[in-house]
Amino acid sequence: MRIGIFDSGLGGLIVARAIRRAMPQYDYVYLGDTKRVPYGSRSCKTVQEFTEESVRYLCEKEKCSLIVLACNTASSQALRKMQKIFTGQKILGVLIPAAEEAAKFMRIGVLGTAGTVASKSFPAEIKKLNPKAKIFQNAAPMLVPLAEAWEGNNTVPFIKKYLRPFAGKKIEALVLGCTHYPIFKREIARTLRSFSEVGKNIKIISQDEIVPEKLKNYLARHPEIEKKLSQGATAKILVTDETETIDKLAQKWFGGVKPKLISLS
Ligand code: DGL
Repeated sequence: MRIGIFDSGLGGLIVARAIRRAMPQYDYVYLGDTKRVPYGSRSCKTVQEFTEESVRYLCEKEKCSLIVLACNTASSQALRKMQKIFTGQKILGVLIPAAEEAAKFMRIGVLGTAGTVASKSFPAEIKKLNPKAKIFQNAAPMLVPLAEAWEGNNTVPFIKKYLRPFAGKKIEALVLGCTHYPIFKREIARTLRSFSEVGKNIKIISQDEIVPEKLKNYLARHPEIEKKLSQGATAKILVTDETETIDKLAQKWFGGVKPKLISLS
């Protein structure tokens, strides 16, 4: 059985790449719903419907026994529902691993999609572990389309706009609460540190640096799940629409695996 990794688009490939580097022995299937990205501005009901279709595909057509929702919007709005529907598979999200890291700090900024911010999932999960933490959230809607379009150079004005609200808040850490944002990690860190009110040592919490280790630990603690996973060291990418940048992004983030077009219906 394979490990399925799902995202609304191609941003989750960064997390997928990191997972694969940490555990190259397993067989992976990445599914990016490129036809319907972005999810971040959609209703909770729609995010749940779309996520269910993709998870079903990974379970039924791709024989995945473990699925990672490498999408914070889906993790915040659809994870519980998926866990109730797909009881024969293990469905994990990426939000709690980042919240666990964030909870080590007292003043935390969270940058996410409109949907993730509205769900208040990050504040809720961080506060479970650190009830006294102060959490400040801001949505960064334009960063997802810019990432999918490979517009790295044109992001700085948007990054400045989205980070500005954190400037006076004395945050010690910033959570990149969307799997597309690590693409702009360097620009985000540089912009944040350029604000005079923000300390140079601010910690950027990025899921590609956290999730692989957490997943490894999880599998070590759950041998009954681990032993179901096949170890052929293969990887494939499935997309629901072909965009201009797909091949380039897949090449950069997933070592030249050629994306295959699929239909979820
Ligand atoms: N990459 C996703 C996330 O982590 C989704 C972004 C979107 O589709 O709006 O939230």
